[in-house]
Amino acid sequence: MSSRSSATDTGFRRAGVKALAKINLALKVLNKRPDGFHDLRTMFQTVSLSDAIDIGFQPGGPTAIEVESSIEIPDNLVFRAAQAVMRLPGAGGGVRIRLRKNVPMGSGLGGGSSDAAAVLLALPVLTGRRIALETLLCLGAELGSDVPFFLLGGTAVGLGRGTELYPLPEMPRANLVIVAPGIHVSTPEAYTLLSRELTTDSVSHTINIFQSVVWTMADSRSFENDFEAVVFRRHPQLQLIKQKLLLAGAVRAMLSGSGSAVIGVFDDAGTARRVAESFDGYGFPARIVTRARYRAMWWRQLAAHIDGKVWPPKSRYAE
Ligand code: C5P
Repeated sequence: MSSRSSATDTGFRRAGVKALAKINLALKVLNKRPDGFHDLRTMFQTVSLSDAIDIGFQPGGPTAIEVESSIEIPDNLVFRAAQAVMRLPGAGGGVRIRLRKNVPMGSGLGGGSSDAAAVLLALPVLTGRRIALETLLCLGAELGSDVPFFLLGGTAVGLGRGTELYPLPEMPRANLVIVAPGIHVSTPEAYTLLSRELTTDSVSHTINIFQSVVWTMADSRSFENDFEAVVFRRHPQLQLIKQKLLLAGAVRAMLSGSGSAVIGVFDDAGTARRVAESFDGYGFPARIVTRARYRAMWWRQLAAHIDGKVWPPKSRYAE
C-alpha cells in the first residue's frame, strides 16, 4: 500500500487497532488426538504488548485485499483472515491492511493469532457485516488454535485444542517482564517432543493439577507450563533467563506457550521496568489486560464505525 492511497482517502473507512499479545498462565498438555492436535488445558491472559494494524475499506467494486507488513511474513494469517471475512455475504471493495510487528514472532506470545483476530473483529465492522460470535469463533479456529481466544480477551480457560474457551475471573493487576530472546521455537516440534513423554496414566493427574491451579488462581506461584521441561532441555539459555528473573525478585517466572518468551511476574512496577531494561533490548515491561479493558479498547478503536457497546463490536454500516 503506498502512502498516497492511504486509508484517509474520501470514501475510505479506516481504523487503527492494537493486536495484543497473550501469555499462558498455566499450560497442561494431555494427549495427542486423531486429528494431530493435542488436547490441552490452559489459562490464557491478554497482555499490553501489541502489534499495530491499520485497516481500511473502500466499498464498491470487486474485492481486492492488500497487506503490507513491517516484516516479511510467509503465509500471513492477516491476509487469510481478511479473505475469510470477505467471503461472507456483504459488500465487496478494497481492503488495505498495514501491519507493524512489535510482538516477537515464534515466541509463544500469539502475535500472529492476535493479528488475525484483530482483522476478524475490525473488518466486519468496516464492511458492514454483522457476524455472530459463534461464526467468528469458527473462522478463528480454522486460522489457528490461539485465534479464538483473541476474539474474547481477558483471562480465559482454554480446553480441547485450545479453542473451547470459558471466561475466568479477572486476574489481579500484575507487573510483567516478557523476555523474548529471539530464539524461534517451532510449536509443532515442541508438541512432538512433549508428546513422546505423555502417558495415558498421566492424563487424570494432569487434569487434577490444572483444576487445582484454576481453583487457586490467586496463588500465582502454583502455575505451571508442561513445555518447560522439553523446551529448556533443547534451549538451556531459556532456563537461565527464568532463573535470572527469579533472582531479580520475580514472584513467579515461566515459559509462555511453547516459548521462547519467558515471563516474570513482579510485585512492583519500578523493579519490573529495571529488570526489563537489564535484558538489553529483548526484555519488555507489560501489564495484564482484563476483559473489561480489552473490550473498552476495541470499542474506542472502532468508535467511528460501531453501533453501541456490544460484543463482538457491531457495525453501524450494516443494512
Ligand atoms: O493451531 P496452530 O496452527 O497454532 O497449531 C500449530 C501446530 O501446533 C499444529 O499443527 C500442531 O502441530 C500443534 N498443536 C497441537 N495441539 C494444539 C495446538 C497446536 O498439537 N492444541
